[in-house]
Amino acid sequence: MTPSGSPVGVVLAAGQGTRMKSDKPKVLHPVCGLSMVEWVVRVLRQAGVERVIVVIGFGGDMVREKLAPYNVEFVEQKERLGTGHAVMQAAPLLAGHSGVTVVSAGDTPLLRPETVKFLIASCCDGAQAALSTAHLPDPGSYGRIIRDGQGKFQAIVEAKDCTPEQLKTTEWNPALYAFDTTTLLATLPRLTTANAQGEYYLTDVLGLVAQAAGKVEAIPANDPDQFDGVNDRWQLAEAGIKMRRRILKGHAEAGVTIIDPDSTTIGPDVAIGPETLVHPNTIIEGRTQIGPNCELGPNTWIKDCVLGDGVRAYMSHLERAEMGDGSRCGPFANLRPGTRLAASVKIGNFVEIKNAALGAETSVSHLTYIGDAEVGQRTNIGAGTITCNYDGFAKHKTTIGSDVFVGSNSTLVAPVTVGDDSMVAAGSVVTKDVPEGDMAIGRGKQENKEGWYRRWRTTKQNSGQ
Ligand code: UD1
Ligand code: CA
Repeated sequence: MTPSGSPVGVVLAAGQGTRMKSDKPKVLHPVCGLSMVEWVVRVLRQAGVERVIVVIGFGGDMVREKLAPYNVEFVEQKERLGTGHAVMQAAPLLAGHSGVTVVSAGDTPLLRPETVKFLIASCCDGAQAALSTAHLPDPGSYGRIIRDGQGKFQAIVEAKDCTPEQLKTTEWNPALYAFDTTTLLATLPRLTTANAQGEYYLTDVLGLVAQAAGKVEAIPANDPDQFDGVNDRWQLAEAGIKMRRRILKGHAEAGVTIIDPDSTTIGPDVAIGPETLVHPNTIIEGRTQIGPNCELGPNTWIKDCVLGDGVRAYMSHLERAEMGDGSRCGPFANLRPGTRLAASVKIGNFVEIKNAALGAETSVSHLTYIGDAEVGQRTNIGAGTITCNYDGFAKHKTTIGSDVFVGSNSTLVAPVTVGDDSMVAAGSVVTKDVPEGDMAIGRGKQENKEGWYRRWRTTKQNSGQ
């Protein structure tokens, strides 16, 4: 159990988000590969909020499923009667908690953990409530922050409830709050629906606390972009652009060179070592780990891979593959799941590797398929080699030793083993194991027909064709 003093988070994620025109709840739409609600839960955790309660409603089962790995709690809001009503659903779970409760919307993926931390600290420092604020020349439909002549927070008034004078206020409510939990629980029952929208407004809690002479800190935040809420697919795209740049900037600050941020995408769970260079049109996704001094792209897609030090991946496609130090692939290599390249392996153009381990300094330079195979060290696989791993019913393994030379256009029919220090002559169909040190040749014998072509050509020319 969480000690009662540590902060608890409540994430409002019950809404449908009709403007998304989607069958799934708004908070499940992805920004840089993670759903918005996952971003919010991660931000809370980074701010030290371990216990997180998510208020679900529309498509709640989908939200539960997406957040299953995050160890959060769920409460259901059966009718959407407003943000205050949403937090009321979490109240039974907050009872007995004496620390701070942070409340955030689930559709603000760009929130910064430092901002949440700052609000929590304000509450710990004696405020009954703290909220972030931001400024816009015209805050549109957002709630306005109303302060008194001394600048002291008085209330949040929803745009629909504002007087014309209040509407001119440029300071708006981004809907990120921290409350002293006892104060929050005592105030929620006092909310009413006597307002323009007939909803229970969470924002009224802050006004009620201020009225009761409680201390409410309304804190203008740096970087107001962090409060960009997403209500439609274009705002989703714009949040994606900002998040993408933020992630790229983080890597640049850590020593990664990104030639063209506009055409580069790096996922949130990717690690890259310093001095690595990323060329344009490169997408790196999933739980990819990349070492230092690598050169990636252009036009390269890498997902869930592990790349060592000094790896070069050039115009290639890599998924669930490992590349050892100093190894290289491309252009036009396809490293499929289960590819394990040791150090200094060379994979050239139009080569596909799947579920195969290749030893150090092995080279597969052109037009080859290696699948379900194990290959030793310093082996050279010639152009056009194919491991025939599939017989139409099952997959079979090809084993190739170290220091082997496989001649071009060879077909290795699995299951088959080619021993160390052996050679396969070009154009062979290998169906039997090749012992160590031997040379296998399995192809039709060449015959030369003396003068045949000249005779044939002359016949054709004379017949006028
Ligand atoms: C709210 C604030 C407004 C602020 C704005 C910022 C209130 C009354 N107003 O506006 O001051 O400027 O956010 O975006 O709080 N939700 C539920 N259950 C509900 C209603 C909403 O879970 O019954 C969730 C939504 O899914 C969403 C979040 O709460 O994630 C905010 O709801 P939304 O309708 O966008 O906010 P407003 O009430 O319009
Ligand atoms: Ca609303």
